[in-house]
Amino acid sequence: DAAELGQYRHYMQKEIFEQPTALASTLARALELGCVPATFGPTAEAVFQAAPAVRIVACGSSYHAGLVARYWIEEWTGLPVSVEIASEYRYRSSVEQDGTLVVAISQSGETADLLAAARSARERGKVQLLALCNVPHSTLTREADLLFLTQAGLEIGVASTKAFTTQLAALFVLGVALAGARQSLPAPRLAELIDWLPRLPALARDVLALEPQLEAWAHELSHDHNALFLGRHTLFPIALEGALKLKEIAYIHAEGYAGGELKHGPLALVDETMPVIVCAGADAVPDKLASNLREVMARGGRVYLLAEPGCEALADGTHRTVLLPQAAGPLAALTMTLPLQLLAYHTACRKGTDVDKPRNLAKSVTVE
Ligand code: G6P
Repeated sequence: DAAELGQYRHYMQKEIFEQPTALASTLARALELGCVPATFGPTAEAVFQAAPAVRIVACGSSYHAGLVARYWIEEWTGLPVSVEIASEYRYRSSVEQDGTLVVAISQSGETADLLAAARSARERGKVQLLALCNVPHSTLTREADLLFLTQAGLEIGVASTKAFTTQLAALFVLGVALAGARQSLPAPRLAELIDWLPRLPALARDVLALEPQLEAWAHELSHDHNALFLGRHTLFPIALEGALKLKEIAYIHAEGYAGGELKHGPLALVDETMPVIVCAGADAVPDKLASNLREVMARGGRVYLLAEPGCEALADGTHRTVLLPQAAGPLAALTMTLPLQLLAYHTACRKGTDVDKPRNLAKSVTVE
């Protein structure tokens, strides 16, 4: 084990630092092909052109990846996208229009609720099932019409890290491929989106260099019993994911919220004992987030701000600020995830929890 871990203390830490490579591997074939629909299979182009809607089903972190994809796909294609928790979808009634693209996202491809949701979708209409999965030959991949295999490699830590960000990369490719098939974006805009992808591994590497600063935040957070995570636009699901990581491995009660929802409840919890981790992206309505921040600070909340360049103005009056090295445009959801993983990881280390095998949780939930 020690040899496999190399310089790292835990698999989770190793897997966090494998992300630049995992992202490059995941994107390699798509970029080679030019992010065309055929990346997803020979019939993908016709399926993408005909789809009247996109329905995404997933569980856990994979569900959060789906929530991010909704922002991308709706903006780039104009298609209606719904994102569903698989365990809810399977037990409710829904009507699926013929040709609906059902995207099942799963690291393992074996999650019982996810498989059941995918099968229910098939029973409800003549849908096309796209599997986005990290495990080749898993049950999900065998049942799908279209497939994208993420190349995260084996993920041992129960809390998903590289599997999650490679799912986001694959979903970005899906958004671009759908827009290409449907000609819903002007060619230069499509090319501009694709151009972001080769830059992703280096962007990720630069963000991971912030580890010492996140470790310092973690020392403070390890004394807290609650935490709030805020974000807007594609960074709202990332706030959910950041909160999930902290709960899972550091056993700190944490909630992710959309900035605009603060005044509808969580603001009542804010005082000097409440750390509020805020994700600010240059393209994620930063001016609106700024007013959410002021609401928190006016009530004595301790703001820990993660900000892209362009959002420096939000740092005024915060408790701590870490500036990301570069703005990542439409990829901000990916780059912003990394500091949140590091924060949860170091908080858990500080508390001495079993980081790679958190209590009561399993890597793959193959029973209902
Ligand atoms: C478990 C894992 C999570 C994962 C979820 C969904 O809860 O601990 O990390 O996100 O299952 O798993 P899947 O393999 O379907 O993505």
